[in-house]
Amino acid sequence: MEIVIVPDAAAGGELIATAIAELFTRKPDALLGVATGSTPLPVYRALEAKVEAGTLDVSRARVCQLDEYVGLPAGHPQSYREVLLREVLEPLGIPGERFTGPDGAAEDIAAAALAYDRELAAGGGVDLQLLGIGTDGHIGFNEPCSSLASRTRIKTLTEQTRADNARFFDSPDEVPHHVLTQGIGTILEARHLVLLATGAAKAHAVVQAVEGPLCALVPASALQLHPHATVVVDEAAAAELRLADYFRATYAAKPDWQSL
Ligand code: GLP
Repeated sequence: MEIVIVPDAAAGGELIATAIAELFTRKPDALLGVATGSTPLPVYRALEAKVEAGTLDVSRARVCQLDEYVGLPAGHPQSYREVLLREVLEPLGIPGERFTGPDGAAEDIAAAALAYDRELAAGGGVDLQLLGIGTDGHIGFNEPCSSLASRTRIKTLTEQTRADNARFFDSPDEVPHHVLTQGIGTILEARHLVLLATGAAKAHAVVQAVEGPLCALVPASALQLHPHATVVVDEAAAAELRLADYFRATYAAKPDWQSL
């Protein structure tokens, strides 16, 4: 696992956007997995700037979702599909036909979950999956004690996660209890995992995920199993890392030709 400590969220966004731009240069029809929440927004704004500057061509890019609420009607402004259309697809000029996600409004949720895993595999798999981290260490919506081998499926949110996400809804009661999320096993199939964490509220989850034991109680610790996982943290989120100086020195000495 590579840990990169950046000065602030904007620097993290630029670094990750550069890695994504390199991916699309190498593979124009790459499948990019995107995440919701506030943390990845600097990545999306940096990507948008690259498209506007003409340094990033997304004319063949494909995009997929990590997770989705269950039970929100299709088109609900806080459904993750709508959020990602607004924050990522529209600003980058990528049409909805090249964007896919789990169907949280499906009648048969179990079938929708299975269909999504199959669709990702049939599409050649995810090339780069962008991840945030919950304050309880969740990735996607894989709450603590999710199986480390899990596939896309329905999950119940913890009250902590519902409270964390309540800011996006008119009232806390509107936050759904159920979600469809790529499983941890599904996420681990992406070729490159890039987790961004910023702010002091994430410091404890970050240290548990990076330096703690691999355990289902901290779903993000599953990144320790992945052969190509990058964790980008700002100074505040890095505050509890015991090996912070080592991570800084390693990144500073990294050869120029080696990207994330
Ligand atoms: C939600 C999403 C996660 C995201 C997390 C943290 O639970 N399902 O993918 O990582 O929120 O969000 P934020 O970046 O706003 O802290």
